[in-house]
Amino acid sequence: MNPVRMQFVREKVLEITREEHGEEAVKGGNPLQGLDILDVGCGGGLLSESLARLGAHTVGIDASESNIAIASSHASADPRLSADSSRPSSKGSLVYRHISAEEILKEQKRFDVVCSMEVLEHVDNPAGFISSCAELLKPGGHLFLSTIARTPLSYVLTILVAEHILRKVTPGTHTHSKYINPSELISFFSKYRSPSDEEGMSWITRTYEHGLPMRTEAEVRGMVYIPWKGQWMLTPRGASGWGTTHCNYLFWVRKP
Ligand SMILES: C[S@@+](CC[C@H](N)C(=O)[O-])C[C@H]1O[C@@H](n2cnc3c(N)ncnc32)[C@H](O)[C@@H]1O
Repeated sequence: MNPVRMQFVREKVLEITREEHGEEAVKGGNPLQGLDILDVGCGGGLLSESLARLGAHTVGIDASESNIAIASSHASADPRLSADSSRPSSKGSLVYRHISAEEILKEQKRFDVVCSMEVLEHVDNPAGFISSCAELLKPGGHLFLSTIARTPLSYVLTILVAEHILRKVTPGTHTHSKYINPSELISFFSKYRSPSDEEGMSWITRTYEHGLPMRTEAEVRGMVYIPWKGQWMLTPRGASGWGTTHCNYLFWVRKP
């Protein structure tokens, strides 16, 4: 799943940077280089490591101390993943911290990109959690979430098959009622205003007839596992039919 998540993050930041700042700004083809990126709920650090390798100044945080220990130990095996400030700033860096999204929000630092992958479906207060992630962004920053839609298909695939039949995931890991549909995230950000800017714009100002937002404000892309290839694939932009965004999906929204 990680290559697909990274593909979406890179492509979306590239697309928006190119549109706003022109071809020159994306000349090297690596739009993440030099950006400050926060990976919320980094777990074992798969995504954090990939972001740092692409030149981002990455901070991976997790509410679980043991996950931070695992992530730090894994990263220490790769000498390229150093937080050494004497290194040229074009090189990425990686720092892990045992802290929650809600706690790090009390600090001053804000980020160009905040990612939180496969976390939302586990939290008890999703609105509060999403707001914390959103407020950790600088103006114009990018928020990437990946999670699971609350559908019959997701019950079958992620609970019945993954937990109880194949036992790929510990039974009880997921709670179907906690899953969030793409339309609920779109609706949330259509009403959302930053607490620091309540007079300001909502993050999604317009949706089309079929409920999808403008691609410069937000985007939803399905992630589908292709068993005969042993790979995850990103569904095409705008695809919303059966089996596209009905289970695992990625969501991007931009802070005004
Ligand atoms: C299923 S894991 C996902 C790990 C990783 N993002 C990935 O996709 O491989 C969810 C992680 O989110 C962390 N988490 C849950 N709520 C959090 C919060 N409020 N702040 C930071 N981490 C949180 C958990 O400790 C757990 O490690």
